[in-house]
Amino acid sequence: MDSNEPIPFNKPYYSGKELEYIRQAFASGKISGDGIFTHKCQQFFCEKFGFDKALLTTSCTDALEMAALLANITPEDEVIVPSFTFPSTANAFALRGAKIVFGDSCATHPNLDISSLESLITKKTKAIVIVHYAGIACEMDPLLELAHDYDLFVIEDAAHAFDSYYKNTPLGSIGHFGTFSFHETKNISCGEGGMLTLNDPKFYQRAEILREKGTNRSSFFRGEVDKYSWVDIGSSFLPSDMIAAVLYSQLEKYATIQQKRLAQWNRYFDNLKPLADLGCLELPFIPSYATNNAHMFYILCTSCEERQALIDHLRSKNIHAIFHYVPLHSAPYYQDKHDGRALPNCDRFSQCLLRLPLYNELLTEQVDRITQQIHTFFTYHRKACSVQSQSMSLQPT
Ligand SMILES: Cc1ncc(COP(=O)(O)O)c(C=O)c1O
Repeated sequence: MDSNEPIPFNKPYYSGKELEYIRQAFASGKISGDGIFTHKCQQFFCEKFGFDKALLTTSCTDALEMAALLANITPEDEVIVPSFTFPSTANAFALRGAKIVFGDSCATHPNLDISSLESLITKKTKAIVIVHYAGIACEMDPLLELAHDYDLFVIEDAAHAFDSYYKNTPLGSIGHFGTFSFHETKNISCGEGGMLTLNDPKFYQRAEILREKGTNRSSFFRGEVDKYSWVDIGSSFLPSDMIAAVLYSQLEKYATIQQKRLAQWNRYFDNLKPLADLGCLELPFIPSYATNNAHMFYILCTSCEERQALIDHLRSKNIHAIFHYVPLHSAPYYQDKHDGRALPNCDRFSQCLLRLPLYNELLTEQVDRITQQIHTFFTYHRKACSVQSQSMSLQPT
């Protein structure tokens, strides 16, 4: 292997069965939504993870928009959302006219700090949206208690959280709704795709209607009505069966995918532990109630400047590492609507978090090359931190 070969941040996983399954979708005579592969995928999720109802969507963004519609969010409502997240988490509710009230992250983890939420609840609060960042569960018990006491919807943005658990319960099955992403950067992907999980039967029928452009076409195809019509608002949230065919080919391989990612994740962790012990960086924290689905490996640098210097160093060695979210409370669209509260933990994760390459084809030698370069950086570029690492070769390359 060329020791300077570029290592991208992500490479989409290819199962090898994608094209065969797309061919089968054509052979079935139906490539629009709700075909054989859409049903196979939905059945897989319900059987494997015990979701009561799972509906494939064209993206996690669309699943969030469906959740906002199902919760009947209106301009009178307030919705609590973490600031450290992708814009879609908040945008779905802003689209319904709601006021977004941003919460801070925990000190030890980018997830929403549940202990600080009660003071954000007002008479207008209708829902709390949480993000299981990097596939690591938010602290659900106190959140559910709060939601119960104030009669609030809980929406789990589980975009990162395929095959991850809170106290043995699959993420996405705990709140009223769960939303998943199958974008190409996710553990299981179909390019662009998503899923809404519903954990209360009273929403099933309306969810199908919203997903089918406000029509009862799903009921019609099941033979429950003799014609279909416009019965509610909705949009085009249903993916083509060709997309589902790609997704299904990956779901079949999910155990191998997860095993491989976890091995890479653990290798990163072990290789970088000596630097964490020296205080050069922080490693991800996984609370005892959460599992690790190896969606992402990140480190925390001690400052934004140091993170940029590390990104530049890795780039000079053909390694692509990237930071993550810009806080939404200070984003151009919301900064003048935010109530002015400082969200220091969110700001720290935004400034110091760095994501390292993690994808199925990534080799152990490549993880070692990346971590060796991180050791090199801290040894030769960070004068304040004199690293004496015994476990790695520190020759600059
Ligand atoms: C937390 C979170 N929610 C929602 C999304 C949007 O997902 P999608 O691209 O499937 O719409 C993302 C994107 O990665 C995300 O990180």
